[in-house]
Amino acid sequence: MRYVWDPFVRIFHWSLVVAFAIAFLTHESEWHRVIHVNAGYTAGTLIVARIIWGLMKTGYASFHAFPFNPLHAARYVWQILRGSARPTIGHNPAGSFIIYALLGTGLLTAATGFLVYNDGWLIDDPELLQALHFYAAWGWLALIATHVTGVITESILHRENLIYAMFTGIKHDVENSERCEDDENVSRETLNVFARWTMGLKRIYKTYIAINSANKKMYRIIEDNDAVNTFGVQQEGDGKSVGENLDTEIAANPETKTNPKEQ
Ligand code: HEM
Ligand code: HEM
Repeated sequence: MRYVWDPFVRIFHWSLVVAFAIAFLTHESEWHRVIHVNAGYTAGTLIVARIIWGLMKTGYASFHAFPFNPLHAARYVWQILRGSARPTIGHNPAGSFIIYALLGTGLLTAATGFLVYNDGWLIDDPELLQALHFYAAWGWLALIATHVTGVITESILHRENLIYAMFTGIKHDVENSERCEDDENVSRETLNVFARWTMGLKRIYKTYIAINSANKKMYRIIEDNDAVNTFGVQQEGDGKSVGENLDTEIAANPETKTNPKEQ
């Protein structure tokens, strides 16, 4: 038994399935265009986040662990047909190939959808954009069908329920499986990446606070200078302006002059 798919991968996967399903089911109706567009943006954002996750040191989720290699993919399919394919702990070579195609086509579908929707921005050819979006979306559907067929075939062939593993993150047949280069403890890897992200965010937050307080100080100095120039209002030792309660003073004694310096 081994923990293979971190929470990010599992949440990403099933959210992408839902986003795709909503975008596809709403594509025909003008009424549902807003839902379609938002589901499409969600799918695009999820894919971008997954690409960032894959570029980091994230164990089995890292792109290092399942390289894009069409030759290995073809050889793996051939081995499956001959019945000599060995299971892989992470993504097998054929699955990896389809996953890159799925990520690429998904991104293309969202990007062409964006261009169709914002007609005239960047490319001013609605017919070309509609055709591109149409082929990207249907091409993506064809790849998904291949992907699901592959997942079911692999699950039956190697007696490992891959769909269940995408929910739990755990795979069982570890002894007979091919290992990947980055065969690390996934939970530790994920924690490391989250820790690095948290440190980065903390640093950004601290910088923001420092800039904000410097900005406020600067604003206060400018405001005080303006007050001195306009009303002749001066600062007292405790930082309070002389004549701060001018309105109340004037209301109590209308004879009082507005500029305390003139009194
Ligand atoms: C909108 C449809 C789908 C898309 C776009 C999609 C996309 C993907 C992607 C990108 C991955 C790689 C996961 C990663 O490393 O982050 C993946 C893996 C996987 N998907 Fe899907 N998927 C879809 C539908 C499904 C469905 C319906 C099932 C279940 C029947 C499924 C089962 C799996 C499994 C089991 C894996 C892991 C495969 C392995 O063990 O190597 N997917 N999918
Ligand atoms: C990523 C998931 C998406 C999928 C699966 C998808 C799928 C589709 C499909 C199948 C069509 C019908 C194409 C046709 O019959 O001509 C369509 C149309 C459309 N989609 Fe998407 N789409 C997605 C994302 C988006 C996004 C992100 C936007 C906008 C920001 C968008 C905007 C549109 C528009 C405006 C149309 C109507 C095009 C026309 O006038 O024919 N889509 N989409």
